[in-house]
Amino acid sequence: MARNFRELYQASKDDRESFWLKQAEAIDWFEAPTRAFDETQGVYGRWFPDAVCNTCHNAVDRHVLAGHGDRLAIIYDSPLTGSKQAITYGELLTDVKALAAAMLDLGIVRGDRVVIYMPMVPETAVAMLACARIGAIHSVVFGGFAAHELAKRIDDAEPKLILSASCGVEPNRTVEYKPLLDKAFDIAVRKPAHAIVLQRPERPCDLVEGRDHDWADLRERYRQEIADGRAVPCARVKATDPLYILYTSGTTGKPKGVIRDNGGHLVAMHWSMGNVYGIEPGDVSFTASDVGWVVGHSYIVYAPLIKGATTILFEGKPVGTPDAGTFWRIISEHGAKLLFTAPTAIRAVRKEDPDGKLFQRYDMANFEALYLAGERADPETVKWAERVLRRPVIDHWWQTETGWAIAGNPRGIELLPVKHGSPSVAMPGYDLAILDTDGTELPAGEMGAIAIRLPLAPGNLPTLWGADDRFRDGYLTAYPGYYATSDAGYLDEEGYLFVMGRTDDVINVAGHRLSTGEMEEIVARHPAVVECAVIGMEDAMKGELPCGFVVLKDTDQHTLDTLEADIVRMVRDQIGPVAAFKRVIVVDKLPKTRSGKVLRRTMKSIVDDKSFETPATIEDASAIEAIEKAVRR
Ligand code: COA
Ligand code: AMP
Repeated sequence: MARNFRELYQASKDDRESFWLKQAEAIDWFEAPTRAFDETQGVYGRWFPDAVCNTCHNAVDRHVLAGHGDRLAIIYDSPLTGSKQAITYGELLTDVKALAAAMLDLGIVRGDRVVIYMPMVPETAVAMLACARIGAIHSVVFGGFAAHELAKRIDDAEPKLILSASCGVEPNRTVEYKPLLDKAFDIAVRKPAHAIVLQRPERPCDLVEGRDHDWADLRERYRQEIADGRAVPCARVKATDPLYILYTSGTTGKPKGVIRDNGGHLVAMHWSMGNVYGIEPGDVSFTASDVGWVVGHSYIVYAPLIKGATTILFEGKPVGTPDAGTFWRIISEHGAKLLFTAPTAIRAVRKEDPDGKLFQRYDMANFEALYLAGERADPETVKWAERVLRRPVIDHWWQTETGWAIAGNPRGIELLPVKHGSPSVAMPGYDLAILDTDGTELPAGEMGAIAIRLPLAPGNLPTLWGADDRFRDGYLTAYPGYYATSDAGYLDEEGYLFVMGRTDDVINVAGHRLSTGEMEEIVARHPAVVECAVIGMEDAMKGELPCGFVVLKDTDQHTLDTLEADIVRMVRDQIGPVAAFKRVIVVDKLPKTRSGKVLRRTMKSIVDDKSFETPATIEDASAIEAIEKAVRR
């Protein structure tokens, strides 16, 4: 038995099979795994290849069966609408069964896809669990994405059904989802047969006859059927069957459908909730993110419920709803043990309340630690939070692809010394290496590409939806035997990882992962644009903000006058407001190498006012001066 984390990590490496089969004992299986990992299956192997299970059973039913039906499963707290709701595991089970029955009667069967395009309301979690219950594969699309993005995901996942709501609520406006949904139906080639729409009192909508079903009507009808004895059993699915697809940004406009399996995910969620976050059954956990992102999937919905804890579902912003004390009010009022959010959110709170006065107003007896992820946790923000909260502030690093921490600080086992600027050490299941461009492993202290020695950990993506080759090409080919994370960084002598940034065209805007390549595709469609480059410029609040550089054809004054507004609107209409694309700079030419590659990294250094060396391969050095001049203008 390992006494400390280092020993436990070593044990997980020395005997992967025993370690993960042991962790798998925490899960209720229909057929328990006899093997942890089979390297002959799938693209790089599969976890728990012979097990049969159901994720909803583990997240809901089993807690009710164990006598915890009265325990709170979800606390919904929405300062944006002024509503709160506490839902017990027993109530959650009834609602999940009712929606599952409704979906079955609409003809949804195991393996079918269901898209969920919803705001932060409890019904979103119910929808995910109902899909899991019947073995349907859900794909949640973040509400801040526009109709085109939704349509792309529909065409890739080919869902039979979409679950949506009449509106979302943002501080400055009510976001009507229904027109976006209808537009996506129009654009999509593979149109789903049905939609179930939740009418929200803030802005009800019209329903399309024959296609749209009213959520509340179905809930009423099927709750009654359940009360009358209709059984809606959990489907028996293979541990290797997909639980969900979550689309994430790559380097092009075509999003990548990350697949999450059932079995590996169950084990990883259960293990990490206790060992990384220190949450036990009955504890209250608060993750302030959105269910549309992986952080929301894993730590708002699945992990807390699989663990039998209470999760807080927060519809609001860190500031302005109503003030920068919102997080602290929620932690205090609901007795949360942890807060997990993005560094951006803490930077926003710090700006409004630099001395942490609002924090001091509340009774924080239960609050143990702050967890940060989604983007680099800058040491200044971490130090500020440590000073104000007087609790551990824990950075951890992961990706949509992995679904849980690659590197973190296993506070549930022991809190390792925190090093500012580092998300600490590799978690069990992950064997990290820093590689040179030719794939040789670099020693401690040297910066290179961060790679994970295969296999990936349980719960990580087995492949991309319908795209094994894209998965191989994008992640496994650059360094044979490794998964390339597309992040760069180094390991220190003690195995602490330092993540310095992406090596591809993905940027992080307020913890949201976006593709500059995709933005370029849209900007290039403006009739006056000859060529363009979009880069992420440093931003004190959001980490990065996209900035577009455009080279124009001969253009009339009117086009020039409206150019920025037009391009900004195009990106907003196509990707969505969350892209936060607001700046366009006109230049005479873009700096390029002699082979025609745009020198984005050099451009970024200029915009961020960092020193740089003009690359020897540059085609025309005057292009650099042109950028410098344009930026200063
Ligand atoms: N539905 C519709 N629109 C949405 C949306 C949603 N679910 N979420 C965000 N948007 C819109 C916003 O209304 C805003 O639109 P605007 O340009 O009209 O103002 C735009 O997308 C950008 O939103 P956001 O990124 O939230 O920025 P903000 O300036 O409104 O707020 C912060 C700044 C720092 C408070 C905010 O970015 C934040 O809370 N960040 C934390 C992010 C986070 O939790 N990330 C998850 C990863 S763990
Ligand atoms: P996403 O898939 O949206 O979770 O984004 C994953 C990317 O966000 C990673 O590849 C990193 O570039 C960045 N990221 C996430 N967490 C961290 C962290 N703790 N430190 C540095 N970068 C991070």
